[in-house]
Amino acid sequence: EQIKKGNYDHFMQKEIHEQPHSLTTTMRGRLKHNSVLLGGLKEHMKTIRHSRRIVFIGCGTSYNAALAARPILEELSSIPVTMEIASDLLDRQGPIYREDTAVFVSQSGETADTLLALEYALENGALCVGITNTVGSTLARKTHCGIHINAGCEIGVASTKAYTSQIVVMVMMALAIGADRISTQARREDIINGLSDLPNQVSEVLKLDREMKDLAESLITLESLLVFGRGYNYATALEGALKVKEVALMHSEGMLAGEMKHGPLALVDETLPIIVIATRDSCFSKQQSVIQQLHARKGRLIVLCSKGDAQSVCPGRSCRIIEVPQVADCLQPVVNIIPLQLLAYHLTVLRGYNVDQPRNLAKSVTTQ
Ligand code: G6P
Repeated sequence: EQIKKGNYDHFMQKEIHEQPHSLTTTMRGRLKHNSVLLGGLKEHMKTIRHSRRIVFIGCGTSYNAALAARPILEELSSIPVTMEIASDLLDRQGPIYREDTAVFVSQSGETADTLLALEYALENGALCVGITNTVGSTLARKTHCGIHINAGCEIGVASTKAYTSQIVVMVMMALAIGADRISTQARREDIINGLSDLPNQVSEVLKLDREMKDLAESLITLESLLVFGRGYNYATALEGALKVKEVALMHSEGMLAGEMKHGPLALVDETLPIIVIATRDSCFSKQQSVIQQLHARKGRLIVLCSKGDAQSVCPGRSCRIIEVPQVADCLQPVVNIIPLQLLAYHLTVLRGYNVDQPRNLAKSVTTQ
């Protein structure tokens, strides 16, 4: 086992640091100068483009990855995109139609809830697309078509590299669906350039390791951590909080910053740490105002912002700042989750918990 971990102490740590490489393998052979090639979807692309709705279905981290990709899919496809947690879709027997494209996202391809939702969508006549890391998995076999994320074997129960590869695959899917639109060509080229450079930016952000360990040290004894995000980074807030609760066994909630004033604001005091994701995108000024409101209530803030923006997000105030490289807005969730993965990892080690096999959890939940 130690041989497989190489120079790392834990698989989760190895898998976090492997991301420049796993993202490279996810994109290998799929990025052309101004287009994207996804062989697995080719035959069904016409049906996908004509579908009435795209519905993403998954659990846990895989659901969060789909949520991160939703805005760019809506933008580039102009098709309504909805989200379903697999168990909730089944509980409600929610509507799935023949005219839907149902996209199932699962690292293992064996999660029972996701597979049952797949059966349900097949019965209802939807086109079913699978996005998985596991060649030959039930998901890969039972869907009509799909995309392998090729992130390499993931062993840590908490998903890290599969999350970022899933986002990248779904961004590529958005590019492929929108490929024949002249009006968005410049936008698509910009994203494709961003994808090519993404492994470099991820290597850059991994240099925050030491800083995130220091931050973890200051949070070890606390009971709770909130993470506020919106837009492209609502998913980052949910996924960052999920990492902290599943491995560091610390209560943590990811919240939509736009909902802050409708309840969560009551929790704010001088002790509760709040991470606010405020990297540059079309929501930036709204996040600046969230930060101001939290300051006015003496919140204990940790702000994740774009490089060089410390003053703009926190002028003369005492926030803790995490600066990350700025990339294309729809790729920013890939960069932004990395300091939060590192934080969850270090918190877990410092608190003395099992990193790779958190109590009560399984890598793949194959029962309902
Ligand atoms: C389990 C794991 C999570 C994972 C989820 C979905 O709950 O502990 O880390 O995100 O299943 O797994 P999947 O293999 O379908 O992506």
